[in-house]
Amino acid sequence: MCGIVGYAGSRNAAEVLFDGLKKLEYRGYDSSGVAVLNEGGMELRRSVGKLKALEAELSKRPVAGHVGIGHTRWATHGRPTEENAHPHVEAGVAVVHNGIIENYLSLREELKKEGAVFKSETDTECLTHLISREMKKGLCLEDAVREAIRRVKGTYALAVISVTEPERIVAARMECPLMIGLGEGENIISSDITAVLNITRKAIFLKDHEMAVITSDKAEITTFDGDSVTRQATVVDWSPIMAEKGGYRHFMLKEIYEQPRAITDTFRGLIAEEAGDVFLNGFDVPLMDIERVYITACGTSWHAALVGKYIFEEFFRIPTEVDLASEFRYRNPLVNKKSLVLAISQSGETADTLAAIKEVKRRGASTIAVCNVMESSLTRECDWSFMTHAGPEIGVASTKAFTTQLVALFLLGLCFGRRTGKVSAETGVELIQELVRLAKKMDRCLEQNFMVEAIAKRYFHCSDFIYLGRGHNFPIALEGALKLKEISYIHAEGYAAGEMKHGPIALIDEDMPVVAIAPLDQSYSKMLGNMEEVKARGGRIIALVNDGDTEASGRADDVIRVPSAPAHLTPILMSIPLQLLAYHIAVLKGTDIDQPRNLAKSVTVE
Ligand code: AGP
Repeated sequence: MCGIVGYAGSRNAAEVLFDGLKKLEYRGYDSSGVAVLNEGGMELRRSVGKLKALEAELSKRPVAGHVGIGHTRWATHGRPTEENAHPHVEAGVAVVHNGIIENYLSLREELKKEGAVFKSETDTECLTHLISREMKKGLCLEDAVREAIRRVKGTYALAVISVTEPERIVAARMECPLMIGLGEGENIISSDITAVLNITRKAIFLKDHEMAVITSDKAEITTFDGDSVTRQATVVDWSPIMAEKGGYRHFMLKEIYEQPRAITDTFRGLIAEEAGDVFLNGFDVPLMDIERVYITACGTSWHAALVGKYIFEEFFRIPTEVDLASEFRYRNPLVNKKSLVLAISQSGETADTLAAIKEVKRRGASTIAVCNVMESSLTRECDWSFMTHAGPEIGVASTKAFTTQLVALFLLGLCFGRRTGKVSAETGVELIQELVRLAKKMDRCLEQNFMVEAIAKRYFHCSDFIYLGRGHNFPIALEGALKLKEISYIHAEGYAAGEMKHGPIALIDEDMPVVAIAPLDQSYSKMLGNMEEVKARGGRIIALVNDGDTEASGRADDVIRVPSAPAHLTPILMSIPLQLLAYHIAVLKGTDIDQPRNLAKSVTVE
């Protein structure tokens, strides 16, 4: 978690850093800070809480200078206090860090014995002391950083400045994202692309075990061993406007509305309608050798994986298991050379998902990343990458990344089914035609926004919710409940509707709203039965039904109508009203929708 940024150029560094931190705030918002070099040496500004606090501090005590580093924190070691906020400064050296220094306690003891005085409870501060110790021995900043990181175990993206070398920033990467944006007479480093887009779209992505020295006119990369690295810059196809709210009250709402565009961009150029096929160039997966598919992910991406199981078992006809990444590698999975493992992650930086994929690679499996961020750690780790084209997702609650993941799984499953002859051309044509029609149907779901808002007004005071779904929509019940929990702080549980009578039905009374996902599919009659059971116990039902439905709507207190689609695509449509419901309830409750408490967008710690 945490976001880091660094700037060297002719602009006011503090302004550029603050602008970059605004884009990175989704990575953590416990505290923030900047350190800027100028003729007077170094100026430090740090504040507890969201960036607004730093903004106030910077306007009260502005900072001049053209080189600096900044940080937005998600606390791991040490409470969210000003002392624990980054940058950490020691003897004219300032450090910002994303990651965890695992051996910080022993390093701290060692440094203390030498007389170091620690001002914070963080793991990061030992780096500041290590670097300044090396500089006191006469090393330049670059070599001092190189020496310091030899001593640390753990993960890091680092940016370091020193008053003795006021033109430069030294950066280093180990298992945390870090990239360099190359401008004209200015360069910027950041944890992710969004923070550099206002300066440039030309970027170099650092790899693990690499360092960089950045000045206004140069960015030189070396390995930790000092070997020089030459790497072509990539031109990023995200625009600055994509990382702005664009007139919406919240990023989450904007991202909900972007979904028809996002899913279309995800399948654009990959489908052949007349042939009923999906063309994934370069995906030379040894499909005929695969005996088992595993899909692993966390959170919302795990919900996408659960839908993926239905898709893969139907199209590819290979047993498919879904695992929470945080559990997968600890259960000694029976993964081998005949396994295909898909890892799904919006960010591509989720620590558990990365660890799971490293483990299965060790066991010889073929690996595919389904990811939204180019050049992320996950895409580098996997044999093949299917990129979703959601664009930057800033809201901590995942929306458009989720529905594009569902499209990605649909395309992968269909592609593998067609390649292995398990899906006929005729079926392929029908499915692809349905996929092409989906964006318009999503628009119709979005048209329900005002109606969903009216429903939210009737229920936002409730303290618990149950979400029910069956088959492909069971994971959507889980996802609907997760959306509500994370942004409104209301307790919500998702269940497979058939499980109701095995326990959860005890919870039903007039204060427990039940959101029932009841499309006209093969489970419809069973869902009607479950809805009856809820009604019989005085429960109130909000039903998501298909156009033309009468029976489920007749059993519900409130109804949201969604166009019908084939079973594998229905979850995409059903997700939209559930996202809107969570959104409006959270607005009514006055919570911080884009940055809910205790959460961060990328969970880069296990
Ligand atoms: C979703 O709303 C969450 N905030 C969270 O569950 C997220 O999906 C999870 O942390 C996984 O992230 P990833 O897709 O970037 O790996």
